[in-house]
Amino acid sequence: MKKVLIATVKPFAPAAISQMKELLTQAGYDMQLLEKYPDTETLKKAVQDADALIVRSDKVTPEILNAAKNLKIVVRAGAGYDNIDLPAATEKNIVVMNTPGQNANAVAELVLGMMVYMARNRFNGQPGIELKDKTIGIHAYGNVGKNVARIAKGFDMQVVAHDPYVSSEIVERDGIKDYEEVEDMYRNSQYVSLHIPATPQTIKSINYDLLKLMPENAVLINTARKEIIDEDGLIKLMEERPDFKYISDIAPDKKDEFEERFGERVFFTPKKMGAQTAEANINAGVAAVKQIIDYFENGNTTYKLN
Ligand code: 3PG
Repeated sequence: MKKVLIATVKPFAPAAISQMKELLTQAGYDMQLLEKYPDTETLKKAVQDADALIVRSDKVTPEILNAAKNLKIVVRAGAGYDNIDLPAATEKNIVVMNTPGQNANAVAELVLGMMVYMARNRFNGQPGIELKDKTIGIHAYGNVGKNVARIAKGFDMQVVAHDPYVSSEIVERDGIKDYEEVEDMYRNSQYVSLHIPATPQTIKSINYDLLKLMPENAVLINTARKEIIDEDGLIKLMEERPDFKYISDIAPDKKDEFEERFGERVFFTPKKMGAQTAEANINAGVAAVKQIIDYFENGNTTYKLN
């Protein structure tokens, strides 16, 4: 019987786990659950005899892969896979997949939720502002970006986008102005929502020079990865621009400094929670299980990343 280990420091919703278990049991697989594990050693032990591994933002390093003697496939139940060492997996002939799009709506709803929270002064009773007629720039028009655009349109916001990997035709088909140059999008967007992955090209790419282009009362929203922000550059800009706000679902490395210096102008969720909904957990968890079964039974590699 093949063993599928679900190893998540941040557990899935119980409804997701029960659907995943049902699917695996029906298909004749054994499901092992390792939630809120305290350290790498615990994961190394649990993964020893696993044939498949499902993770979220959990780090899958060469150390973990070396400990996993039977491992054939790792599925990141989610979109971003910067937590998985792809070359190390490839070297060991381990297939890596993600489940793109499955948690996108959850992340997008959080973007707009945090924007409203800040626009209404954290619901403190003081007059705030509305989102209607403001411009939001979507930095990367992928699964999450598209959902942010859809919901922002419901608020009657002006939606614009920049994505070097998506053609203007596709963006404009959705009634969204596409900026070819990233600088132009920042120059014309009071709100910018980030949806780029953390790669060697994007790390620290959201920097002082780019952010300083944003118009008055600018708000930057980050539900992507903390690594894409040049934190020193953002701190410098926020010193110079008392109108500038930063909202993030991932606390920056310099969280204390941001909070001490900028107080109410920054907001960070205590734990990354963009994908923390029952629906997103079910979508991503069930997709991960189905992909594993389909890989073992039919050799389907549709979402293979390596
Ligand atoms: C993703 O890349 O899918 C999101 O950042 C969600 O990550 P999580 O599964 O750790 O919540």
